[in-house]
Amino acid sequence: MDVIEAIKTRRSIRLFKKKDVSPQKIVEILECGVKAPSASNFQPWEFVIVREPKIKNRIGYLGARSLFERKKRKLKDSKKQFAQIAEAPVFIVVACDTRASPIFWKQDGAAATQNMLLAAHSQGLGGVWLGAPVALTKHKNEIKKLLGMPRHYDIVSIVALGYSAKLPRSRPMKDFKDKVHFERW
Ligand SMILES: Cc1cc2nc3c(=O)[nH]c(=O)nc-3n(C[C@H](O)[C@H](O)[C@H](O)COP(=O)(O)O)c2cc1C
Repeated sequence: MDVIEAIKTRRSIRLFKKKDVSPQKIVEILECGVKAPSASNFQPWEFVIVREPKIKNRIGYLGARSLFERKKRKLKDSKKQFAQIAEAPVFIVVACDTRASPIFWKQDGAAATQNMLLAAHSQGLGGVWLGAPVALTKHKNEIKKLLGMPRHYDIVSIVALGYSAKLPRSRPMKDFKDKVHFERW
């Protein structure tokens, strides 16, 4: 799959088969993560590979709480969705050193995240970028503590990865023409 096809066909996958992901695939995905551009080439990212169900379930629960506490979804519905996501065999937590790259660490971490999602897709895996578990500082701090992350690192994203058990429905996409301005806004 070439990069254009990968970009155009990638979707967020939230339901996974009970099939493990090989360490080789994870290493290749991480290699693509660290090839992302970063401001001043600081490469402030570090990654935590989480396979432990207890930790994935807790992260999922915090994601569900976050949607509920921010009044975006009923707790029951979001708990169900995040419980399914937590069945992904692997979570990759993307964190950045905020001291090493104080201005652009979020952008750098986001670029690494997208590279990994595309790499996973091109390998026949599915993934989803999880922002909800770290949307509220109290939840993010709990996850940092659970993972033993140093204080000056901050979590940019959590990527759930596995083999897709269900392709999502097509989603509404805004018209490209309404998003582009030539020369001036
Ligand atoms: C910053 C960010 C945070 C996201 N957080 C979540 C999340 O917490 N849970 C989730 O299920 N999807 C999450 N997503 C995935 C989006 O819902 C998804 O990308 C969007 O609906 C478009 O669907 P697609 O990825 O299939 O194109 C997040 C995506 C981004 C970029």
